[in-house]
Amino acid sequence: MRVLVAGGAGYIGSVVTAALLAGGHEVTVLDDLSTGHADAVPEGAAFVRASLHDSAPVLADVRPEAVLHFAAKSLVGVSQTQPEDYWHTNVGGSLALLEAMRAVDCRRIVFSSTAATYGEPDAVPITEDAPTRPTNTYGASKLAVDHMLTSYAVAHGFAAVSLRYFNVAGAGFGRGERHAVETHLIPIALQVAAGTRDAITVFGEDYPTPDGTCIRDYVHVLDLADAHLLALPAPAPGEHRIYNLGNGTGFSVRQVVDAVREVTGHPVPVVVGARRAGDPAQLVASSERIRADLGWDPQHAELTTMVRDAWALVS
Ligand code: UFG
Repeated sequence: MRVLVAGGAGYIGSVVTAALLAGGHEVTVLDDLSTGHADAVPEGAAFVRASLHDSAPVLADVRPEAVLHFAAKSLVGVSQTQPEDYWHTNVGGSLALLEAMRAVDCRRIVFSSTAATYGEPDAVPITEDAPTRPTNTYGASKLAVDHMLTSYAVAHGFAAVSLRYFNVAGAGFGRGERHAVETHLIPIALQVAAGTRDAITVFGEDYPTPDGTCIRDYVHVLDLADAHLLALPAPAPGEHRIYNLGNGTGFSVRQVVDAVREVTGHPVPVVVGARRAGDPAQLVASSERIRADLGWDPQHAELTTMVRDAWALVS
């Protein structure tokens, strides 16, 4: 298929682009490089530097049969202090992209949604039928696009899939997390193991969990890539599907730090700090729906595998 990957110079987008190329797809990456890296775009993909707001001429030129949409601002903390950026890029940019698609009669899309659309869950594991009550602007902006896709499916015959990622980790095709400002647990713990950072601050040890630290569901970026390839052809015109992507097993912050110590063989000093605003105590996915519908079968579900693959690029 001829596909356009919006946000293909970022961590997840570049890995999925490599997987699409390996699967025989023809890929053009659109990215404004606000957080991505030009050298992350895999060889074999065309690259156009443009923002979502300026995507119309690019789509008119490329004439894609489908779009995979990863381009977004994704820092939960910043979304609380600069919400305008999140509404402008994540919602306004997505609307511009959907209109650019409609203008060239391209109506198939896979969208990167997030567990943050659910907010604090009533129960875990979280199914797709759980209430969506985001606790931050980032999650709210992604949920708005999910709603946008439902209405574009109904009104304009779009074939859409929202993939709600839980905590993405690991590396693939030689690509891993490389953020200018790193906020994620595993890359920060690896920086401590590598000696480029002194200690990791655990954000709160008084949560209602067995060891008092937050529990998250980690999913390997290569398993995520598989899910995108399965999702791409799945929906019929007029259909918007939503799937959670996680492994159904939660690990606490302390357990993740222990896994980093085990894999790297280095000490990882920990400092206990205050809670981070907006962090739910526990986010664990039920991904039964995508397993049943599309046969998704994660091959790298072990936390140590994710840490090892990420460490291989750092060390
Ligand atoms: N944490 C620490 N210290 C750190 C960094 C993180 O204790 O230095 C803790 C966090 O408080 C949290 C856990 O580690 O409890 C995981 O934090 P991350 O920042 O790695 O990931 P989040 O769970 O906050 O967020 C990730 C994505 C979001 C997405 C969310 C959905 O970054 O984009 O998963 O679950 F919305």
